[in-house]
Amino acid sequence: MPNASRFERLAARDDRWITVSVEGEPVKVRAGDNAATAVLAAGLRPSRTTAVSGAGRAPYCMMGVCFECLLEIDGVENVQGCMTPVRPGMEIRRQQGARHCENNDREEMSA
Ligand code: FES
Repeated sequence: MPNASRFERLAARDDRWITVSVEGEPVKVRAGDNAATAVLAAGLRPSRTTAVSGAGRAPYCMMGVCFECLLEIDGVENVQGCMTPVRPGMEIRRQQGARHCENNDREEMSA
């Protein structure tokens, strides 16, 4: 992974570990972790870039309030990583800029 993580884990009661993919690399995480934690554990900062300026951002509140943790999870963009529990085989990617909008999305919104 590109940079060292400053993320430290506290002691946990549940010590089962699973493997997810972060930017195509296998990362071991605890079964109760969320996707934003997996990105932090992998040492990947920033975890996304903003849609307007391209500035780097990283998970902040870890409780669903700030939306700084937006990720692409299993091919779905704009997912709040801190609110998404990990599961074996999950594919997580950092979100770069705005999510892509398909024509189908616009048609569904106007219906
Ligand atoms: S880290 Fe704030 S909403 Fe996910």
